Amino acid sequence: MTGEAEAGAFRQVFGDPPAGVWAAPGRINLIGEHTDYNDGFALPMALPHTTRVAARRRADGRLRLHSTRGDGRVTDLAVADLASGTGMDWARYPAGVVWALREAGHHVGGADLHFDSDVPAGAGLSSSAALECAVALAYDELYGLGLPGPELARIAQRAENAFAGVPCGIMDQMASVCCTEGAALHLDSRTLARRQVPFDPEGRGLALLVVDTRVTHDLGDGAYAALRAGCEQAAALLGLTALRDLAAHELASALAELPPELVPLVRHVVTEDERVAEAVGHLEAGRVGALGPVLTAGHASLRDDYRVSCPEADLVVDTALAAGALGARMTGGGFGGSVIVLVPAAAADPVAAAVHAAFAAAGHRQPGVLPAAPAPGARRIA
Ligand code: GLA
Repeated sequence: MTGEAEAGAFRQVFGDPPAGVWAAPGRINLIGEHTDYNDGFALPMALPHTTRVAARRRADGRLRLHSTRGDGRVTDLAVADLASGTGMDWARYPAGVVWALREAGHHVGGADLHFDSDVPAGAGLSSSAALECAVALAYDELYGLGLPGPELARIAQRAENAFAGVPCGIMDQMASVCCTEGAALHLDSRTLARRQVPFDPEGRGLALLVVDTRVTHDLGDGAYAALRAGCEQAAALLGLTALRDLAAHELASALAELPPELVPLVRHVVTEDERVAEAVGHLEAGRVGALGPVLTAGHASLRDDYRVSCPEADLVVDTALAAGALGARMTGGGFGGSVIVLVPAAAADPVAAAVHAAFAAAGHRQPGVLPAAPAPGARRIA
């Protein structure tokens, strides 16, 4: 990935060469799902798949956007008029970042931006965070802001929450900006404190597969917001700032105080934070295979308590486990998207074949299967 193709396309669309090319990755989350907006913990890693942006400043306050994934048109916006992404297509993510930078008091103006991406869209792999973070990083350099990574992630999250209208947490943006090659990112969503936890399945004779169920999800459709509101309501009823503040040993007595519909939500969040700690313990002790049962337990909790899985994701998990996987779980927000599967390297092909066969037998669209290793976070590539 040299940025040459993006620079060439930029020149064709906008006439001149770009000032640079930046890339930001999609992510999977190993464990710690629906914990970020509860101030809890997560363990994402960056994928090798990235969104790239070739960019150059403009002095006239126009923001011009073009994507090889779009319909060929250039979207042309006045930076000073940016207020809401309602009614915009994919352009709401990059436009939202420029809006969020200005909202945060940074003196940024226009730019020409050309995008290309190989992050599968709608697969729960954070293609929108990759898009936002690529723009945040490009603008940071184009306008000499010098913002630290977590601040860029906050700006990107603000763009998604307040401009694009998706009430997501901070995990995806932190993963896209702050992950490093060869490691998963142990993230404290309250403080944004983080630690790189070495993760090398291949070195242990294992493989990590990402299975795209092809069921597309939309976090803006209300179900995610409803879950988030349920967690916030439970925390308020318990007199806590966030569910992160409920310790595992207090769980049983806390659950007894809550209305029945909030019980499974709280149980998921508290046990999920525990699973993150457990997973980090295993990885730091070099017990990569021991991660498997933690993943599978996380899936059961998302399926039965949080209720964000779907039949296709459950089928991947059950089939993979039956075919020799060490563990599997849906990753990301849910309602479709992707499943991660930890397998002994020798079992990777048979497990993938079993999943394909199970999908064919059930009449589902064929899933996408890609092997994944922890890749670097957002960076300049040209
Ligand atoms: C989506 C959101 C994240 C996080 C996950 C669930 O990916 O964007 O902030 O809440 O769902 O863990």
